[in-house]
Amino acid sequence: MEIIHTIAALKAVLQPLQKANAKVALVPTMGALHNGHLSLIEIAQKHAEIVVCSIFVNPTQFTDPKDLEKYPRPLEHDIKMLTDAGCNFVFMPTVKEMYPNFPIPENWHIDLGDAEFLLEGEFRKGHYQGVTQIVKKLFDAVEPEIAFFGQKDFQQVLMIKNMVKHFNMPVEIVSCPIIREDDGLAMSSRNIHLTPVDRKNALVLSQALQFVHDNFNKLSLSELLESAKIMINDTNGVALDYFTIADGETLLPVETKSVENPVALVAAKVGETRLIDNMLLNQ
Ligand code: PAJ
Repeated sequence: MEIIHTIAALKAVLQPLQKANAKVALVPTMGALHNGHLSLIEIAQKHAEIVVCSIFVNPTQFTDPKDLEKYPRPLEHDIKMLTDAGCNFVFMPTVKEMYPNFPIPENWHIDLGDAEFLLEGEFRKGHYQGVTQIVKKLFDAVEPEIAFFGQKDFQQVLMIKNMVKHFNMPVEIVSCPIIREDDGLAMSSRNIHLTPVDRKNALVLSQALQFVHDNFNKLSLSELLESAKIMINDTNGVALDYFTIADGETLLPVETKSVENPVALVAAKVGETRLIDNMLLNQ
């Protein structure tokens, strides 16, 4: 695996491959890799000849500077994981490479639709402008035919699809299943911040989602929501931000169960760590 730090060097290696018709896939990450990230690499390898993984902790998508500061950066571990997975290239730019005038903010604002301001958008103002800004820059640098994202960040996939439509970009966006620990906790780079007690308490999030999934046809929407919220609120050390059953296209709360793509989404602070998770209800 080749490690690349600059956009120029990346283009120099990728463009000849692209000219020779090799299909290039991109898996964007912020590092602190776990099996959830690796599953994206594996799926990407099934779709393309060349897989590029980017590792870049993007400052413009963090709303809390402390969160940015304490974001884990285990680089050697990440490089080993990607090498073992057979990834072809890892792109690890500096902040200056991606934002030449940093810390002076670049002019960036695009219309991501009303869903930008719901759920995570409500709790993390401007977050999806930052996410789409860096993903656009990564797409410009790599020019992938296809890019892979996790359903774990359900709203993020929707926002990136909207960004791709906005610019009419020639890249296919693929959403990949959530990888969980054996007990159900969704894998996340943030899980390392959980204390042993938090780790146990955090299970209530996937349990509440699973409850809603398993009882979706049996109980009413209000019964499902009420039970899930009680499960979470009754767990010490877990502070709920939202639990909703939403339309997967608009992210608005559903009023009937007969929407095409219903999804339950949750966000909560477990101890000091904010976690998100979701589950599709039509599967
Ligand atoms: P990061 O949190 O590192 O996640 C990188 C990718 O891995 C995202 O597409 C995310 O949804 C996916 N992922 C994380 N946990 C997963 C799990 N348990 N199962 C499956 N996929 C999982 O998301 C970001 O970085 C950033 O916002 C980024 C898109 C890189 C832009 O900076």
